[in-house]
Amino acid sequence: MMNMQSKYQLTQHNSFAFPATCPAFYQPSSIDELNEVVSRLSPPFYILGEGSNTLFTEQTTSTILQPNIKGITVEESENFVFVSAKCGENWHELVNFCVEHEYYGVENLALIPGSVGASPVQNIGAYGTELADVVEQVKWYDFKNKNIKTFDRSACQFGYRDSIFKNSLANKGVIVEVTLKLSRKWQANLTYNGLDSLPKNVSSKDVFQQVIKLRQSKLPDPNKLPNAGSFFKNPIVSSEEFERIKTLYCAVPSYPQKDNKIKLAAGWLIEQSGLKGFKLGDVGVDETQALVLVNYASKNGQDILQLAKHVQKTVLDKFDIMLQPEVRMLSKDGLIQLTLDKKA
Ligand code: EPU
Repeated sequence: MMNMQSKYQLTQHNSFAFPATCPAFYQPSSIDELNEVVSRLSPPFYILGEGSNTLFTEQTTSTILQPNIKGITVEESENFVFVSAKCGENWHELVNFCVEHEYYGVENLALIPGSVGASPVQNIGAYGTELADVVEQVKWYDFKNKNIKTFDRSACQFGYRDSIFKNSLANKGVIVEVTLKLSRKWQANLTYNGLDSLPKNVSSKDVFQQVIKLRQSKLPDPNKLPNAGSFFKNPIVSSEEFERIKTLYCAVPSYPQKDNKIKLAAGWLIEQSGLKGFKLGDVGVDETQALVLVNYASKNGQDILQLAKHVQKTVLDKFDIMLQPEVRMLSKDGLIQLTLDKKA
């Protein structure tokens, strides 16, 4: 029997730990159960993974669909390994499984909170690797036709924290399985600051451990201090815009992208705006990593929303750059945007 509950309490289902409730909570654990849900589901609804990238902005959310299909299968060829994981698997446990079995390519993505099904939606990435680097295909269940479509890597239209699944396909279906193409031949990716100090003969387990250590030292543990990781995306600006900022702040960290664009560090912009460690009531900007908004004791998601607006406005005033949220913000009517009331 499928898990279906009404007036369901979601505190355990969001890493900000806000006590919102949803009018209906569906947790299908098979495709058959998914078929059943889809016949009953009516908008507004929201597809939730483990709730580590979602802010509940009100005491009530829309209906929640949390796919919970489990299973991992492996197919090996001479040089590659294809690891297929169902959407309800935990991402970090999948990475752990791959590292243990010496399937290489995801060790830099250790300890990212969340489910496998959510990982392609925003193309999770950290320490020089993105999901897009290792995806072979994604299976997506189409609500309209009740069938499963296969998307190869290019069809996923991956970008920085972006994919087709959060754009044209948003709420039209749900990811049910992700297949990773991993290597049998070890080659470390140590380009990112913090990994570049590792010795050349480092093993994949060492990289895995180092990434865990780095994350634990830089990012607050949501189990101890509720948060949803980076709240904003790192802004990508034109080279002209970058030159403008660089003239004023020569130490601005920058990461060249394709098409002559430059990625800036939102955490740096927030810190330079004087907001690192800033507190607004029971919420605040983290004291170590300014890109993370934390919930000290609030029971109301509006508090984070107000803080996010304050951060957005302060950075806009100082740098003339509009930060865009990475975290998805849900009201009872569906997703909402972060819009400033008035441009100063
Ligand atoms: N910085 C500051 N002050 C801060 C935070 C950062 O000056 O308070 C500077 C750092 O010194 C560094 C630069 O900003 O020069 C970049 O910082 P960091 O390496 O910590 O990474 P990030 O850009 O803040 C991104 C991802 C993280 C990911 C890390 C590591 C985004 C939105 N965030 O953060 O992803 O773990 O790189 O690869 O792209 C997430 O998405 O939730 C997440 C945690």
